[in-house]
Amino acid sequence: MAEDGSLLVVAIDGPAGSGKSTVARRLADALGLQYLDTGAMYRAVTFAVLARGVEPDAEEAVAELAEALKIELGADGAVLVDGVDATTEIRSPEVSRCVSEVANNQRVRRELVSRQREWTRQRGGGVLEGRDIGSVVYPDADLKVYLTASPEVRARRRALETSDVSEESVARDLARRDAYDSQRVNDPLRQADGAVTVDTSDLTIDQVVNRLVELLRVADPGGGPTD
Ligand code: DC
Repeated sequence: MAEDGSLLVVAIDGPAGSGKSTVARRLADALGLQYLDTGAMYRAVTFAVLARGVEPDAEEAVAELAEALKIELGADGAVLVDGVDATTEIRSPEVSRCVSEVANNQRVRRELVSRQREWTRQRGGGVLEGRDIGSVVYPDADLKVYLTASPEVRARRRALETSDVSEESVARDLARRDAYDSQRVNDPLRQADGAVTVDTSDLTIDQVVNRLVELLRVADPGGGPTD
């Protein structure tokens, strides 16, 4: 059990295009939990930074903006930033280009991690996906998973999601972000201690979700919150 034993938490980390979002959403449904896309929160901050003409590397200005920003994540994937619907805009190439820089801001990370823990507490647990869930946000999660897939498969998946960008350009952006996210100073992407690695390259979504349900049953035979 995570934290004080009253939360049921599944932590899913991995690089872009590894299947995290789809798998996390489906797993949450299967377990009757809610799902949190923490990458969308870093994207929401980046969207606001760009919209207000703040330089992504202006550490203090970016941190202050993040600390005051209202971010609302709907169960249907909708993202409201200070009340404005930015569901599509947070996935734009411009936001994708700048988000790693914003995510390397220590104060931004502290603020968003604290909101992620509060979100989880309010719901009695959840399936959280990102880059640092099993290593920083919930190191004592009931199940920690590191999802991965070959670079070619990941680029193809992301290109299908963003139809106006070529697969080559998506592959270049993914390679650049992988390098930045895993080499950055603050909470880099890495496999958390105790995380189970699942390579999704040749698996269907159902196969991955079934595998995770089984792993959770083994890791946490009680299968639910304890309080
Ligand atoms: O999952 P995504 O590609 O939408 O995430 C966008 C960026 O946010 C990614 O490049 C790294 C960052 N991120 C992070 O640093 N920590 C998280 N928990 C989630 C995302």
